[in-house]
Amino acid sequence: MMSDDIKLDRHDDARAILARNDRGGYTVPTDRLYPFQWNWDSAFVAMGFATFDIDRAYRELERLIEGQWEDGMIPHIVFHAPSDTYFPGADVWGTRHRIPTSGITQPPVFGMALRFIHDAAVAAGRQDALERTRPLFAAALRSHRWWMKARDPERRGLVAILHPWESGSDNSPAWDEALARVPTTTTTQIRRKDTGHVDAAMRPRDVDYQRFIHLVDTYRDCGWNPEKQWASAPFKVADVQMTGILARATADLIRLAAVLGAQDEVAELSEMHRLLTEGLGRRWRDSLRRFVSLDLVSGEDIEAPTQAGFIPLVAVTLDGQQRAAVAAEIARWCDGMVVSLPSTAPFSPAFEPKRYWRGPVWAVINWLMADGLRANAMNELAGSLERGTVWAIEQAGFCEYFDPTTGEGLGGNTFSWTAAAYLVLSRRVTDG
Ligand code: GLC
Repeated sequence: MMSDDIKLDRHDDARAILARNDRGGYTVPTDRLYPFQWNWDSAFVAMGFATFDIDRAYRELERLIEGQWEDGMIPHIVFHAPSDTYFPGADVWGTRHRIPTSGITQPPVFGMALRFIHDAAVAAGRQDALERTRPLFAAALRSHRWWMKARDPERRGLVAILHPWESGSDNSPAWDEALARVPTTTTTQIRRKDTGHVDAAMRPRDVDYQRFIHLVDTYRDCGWNPEKQWASAPFKVADVQMTGILARATADLIRLAAVLGAQDEVAELSEMHRLLTEGLGRRWRDSLRRFVSLDLVSGEDIEAPTQAGFIPLVAVTLDGQQRAAVAAEIARWCDGMVVSLPSTAPFSPAFEPKRYWRGPVWAVINWLMADGLRANAMNELAGSLERGTVWAIEQAGFCEYFDPTTGEGLGGNTFSWTAAAYLVLSRRVTDG
């Protein structure tokens, strides 16, 4: 009885966080630290809303695509309303869309979210499900076409990021070598705001920020033209996390295309899906027991042990040997951890349990991991990650991320996607 009450309160808390971070049909990741609409945050948040408010779930995605560019790209930030608590703001990006946006993108969880919401709408008996889904499907399809054209022009079956911020795992050690080649000179004056909100020891270093902004300056000087950016990018990584999410979202769009009776689109998306899953297949490494990204500037594998190596499970079907290898590798990463899955392996010299993307646990990463494990019939492991995530949130609150060695909640507080992850994952835990 008691524990049921606590759980109910937690659901109310999660919903209250989403309500509090609502800025009028879109949700900020958290107040002050991230005061605009972020791309993949909103996709996760929309799924959280779908557990109790279908209209609001659709609305989140509708507001996100207000920022979609002519060429199909969905930007990583949409600056719907001004705020001076974040750097780099709209003025630094200098983009020319009708609403100010950043000029880079983020993982395309959008397609996954759309299918999730559509299914929830149908299950709730909503008559308007197809009508609400259709324009969002068209937007998602345009964005997937952009991905293939702009970010895989050499047709490897892998999509590339041109900025670490695109990966969503901004400060991951996976980018260290590739980023070290990027000059630290900038034409933009750097005025960091993040370290005013959060302990600097948990955030990226100043020198990394100089490189991040050097990349922004470079692409702005290309007029945000994708071909010019591709040609002049000093940072270019074919990322398995991004490609895995894109491939999974493509599978979800195939399903929606079928429901919408869009046969040509089924064929087009199926071809995209084939390319991407084959590309991912080539990135598996037996010796590492995971997938590896490819540095397109050096031509070398990126072997840093980060969570990205397991994310392709959302899209590919492993054989029995690979499944056993992944299970053993995950067990090795989680050995001795209070909360799993660390975003960098604890045995790596790059592991820092409190610094952004260098060790901490993210609820939404665990959500993707659990989906990937379930898609590969590894339900037990998926269940234990889901239970661990729910437990961490119940202990430490709706924090941005968690220290895997202590379970401590870190980064920003009252985080929208952590609340969304709680709403979705706690249901699975309760339903078994
Ligand atoms: C950080 C994260 C990124 C997220 C954003 C807003 O930049 O690295 O993944 O989208 O915060 O929450």
